[in-house]
Amino acid sequence: MPLSKEDHGKIEKVVGYLVEARSILFITGAGVSADSGLPTYRGVGGLYDEADTDDGVPVEMAMAGRMLRTNPEITWKHLARIEQAARGKTFNRAHEVIAEVERRFPRVWVLTQNVDGFHRMAGSRNVIDIHGDCRELTCMRCDYRTTVKDYVALEIPPRCPKCRHTVRPDVVLFGDLIPPEKVQALQREVARGFDLIFSVGTTSVFPYIAQPVINARFSGIPTVEINPGLTEVSFVVDVRIAGGAAETLDAIWRRYQEGQPVRHPGRKG
Ligand code: OAD
Repeated sequence: MPLSKEDHGKIEKVVGYLVEARSILFITGAGVSADSGLPTYRGVGGLYDEADTDDGVPVEMAMAGRMLRTNPEITWKHLARIEQAARGKTFNRAHEVIAEVERRFPRVWVLTQNVDGFHRMAGSRNVIDIHGDCRELTCMRCDYRTTVKDYVALEIPPRCPKCRHTVRPDVVLFGDLIPPEKVQALQREVARGFDLIFSVGTTSVFPYIAQPVINARFSGIPTVEINPGLTEVSFVVDVRIAGGAAETLDAIWRRYQEGQPVRHPGRKG
């Protein structure tokens, strides 16, 4: 859906926020990677579309840490599907713009729920991948760890080459605790404060995703949502643009750059 005249007015407002900001938090979800061709979890064509999986259990049960321990073949079947949907795909303009913003502003962080690793691939360094990365695999019993490009060569469910126990991806499944170091990193950065918060392509169903936006709003810190659909924070944010992540972030960034003096003549960016 192309951006409307009204959206362009909102973009001007967001550019105004950027001009004033030194520290920015981007909170991202599956919608950012939707522009790379990955399915989202919820909504039309979402991975959680079906009420029950073909194993006859709800997806929250199939994708739970408990199921992985008792019936790894069920959980791994779904993990493999998610990985397969991402295979051969890569980051898009939304990830690129976020990485460019990090290079240009004093302090920028990405809080992402995505497990595809696209933010880091696009060049973002300050990334809290709160739900992990599906390419990092660990043994559930011993200290075996490995990083894979994809799951092509894996037997499903994969077995540890050292102890033959089940290997799992380093992702947060339903009922799992978020790794404490990720929670601490998020708390540390949120406590330092941000001048501007973007929520892009996420339904914000988890409190730790919605809360920074809600708190910012009530502290007078500008908040922006980019999402074609309505979410838990849609009625909280200062500016809501109902557009796709890549197109909208690209439009904001181009407009911002038009208004910025070139600080280093001859140097790009
Ligand atoms: P969801 O699938 O819940 O939401 C995707 C959001 O992206 C929706 O709000 C869509 O409207 C929006 N969207 C779709 N296309 C878009 C586009 N081109 N540009 C921008 N937005 C677009 O995904 P998340 O909110 O990321 O957790 O889901 C959060 C977590 O729920 C996931 O990390 C996963 C799942 O359970 C775990 O696996 C622990």
